[in-house]
Amino acid sequence: MNQHLVAPSLLAADFAHLGDALQLFDKSEADWLHLDVMDGRFVPNISFGLPVIKALRPLSKKVFDVHLMIEQPENYIADFKAVGADVLTVHYEASTHLHRSIQAIQAAGMKAGVALNPHTPVVLLQDIIKDVDLVCLMSVNPGFGGQSFIERTLLKIRQLKAMILAENSNALIEIDGGVDPKNAAAILNAGADVLVAGSSVFKSEDPMASIKHLKNIQQLDVV
Ligand code: DX5
Ligand code: ZN
Repeated sequence: MNQHLVAPSLLAADFAHLGDALQLFDKSEADWLHLDVMDGRFVPNISFGLPVIKALRPLSKKVFDVHLMIEQPENYIADFKAVGADVLTVHYEASTHLHRSIQAIQAAGMKAGVALNPHTPVVLLQDIIKDVDLVCLMSVNPGFGGQSFIERTLLKIRQLKAMILAENSNALIEIDGGVDPKNAAAILNAGADVLVAGSSVFKSEDPMASIKHLKNIQQLDVV
């Protein structure tokens, strides 16, 4: 039985007090910090970018999991390494030469992830699943926090898990969007390894307790 990882998404934190959010994250049971970079082109929203990540990096030694929702992410791989990204995820839909991008991310010394929008079928990863370190399944349409979990994602997790096992891949399955204490057990039981949670952590009354709760949900053996 694998212990899953919890990755609070900074997008839901109070942007006027990011330092406090980092301090809370660092003290909590959270494993990774999920950082959503948006360019207003690939997604209809603009969030934060390189200088913000650089400023936050000294505040925690834990993993910075950077989710690029930008066009031409291949142009910024060295920049995100330079500001301290540990995991760098690009979108399948934004990558004409995905294999080259994955290789470049790994050559730069980071773990390489690929994210799929809700409409993109898992089967499209067949020829790259052995090469990636992480697959981020979007369980909402990317661009905004606070949306509802798309139920069909549970089926996609099972399909992806089967592909990972069949291809002997080490890729982790990360679920991003609408994850909360009510659906987390079902997500884990379907085969997820990493839970991203924005609103259900930072908009909750007690973010520290919310992280603890997500971390301590029991994962049954996946059959
Ligand atoms: C959405 C982002 C998510 C977002 C999740 O585009 O990729 O990481 O922060 O937020 P919640 O957990 O509120 O759905
Ligand atoms: Zn994200």
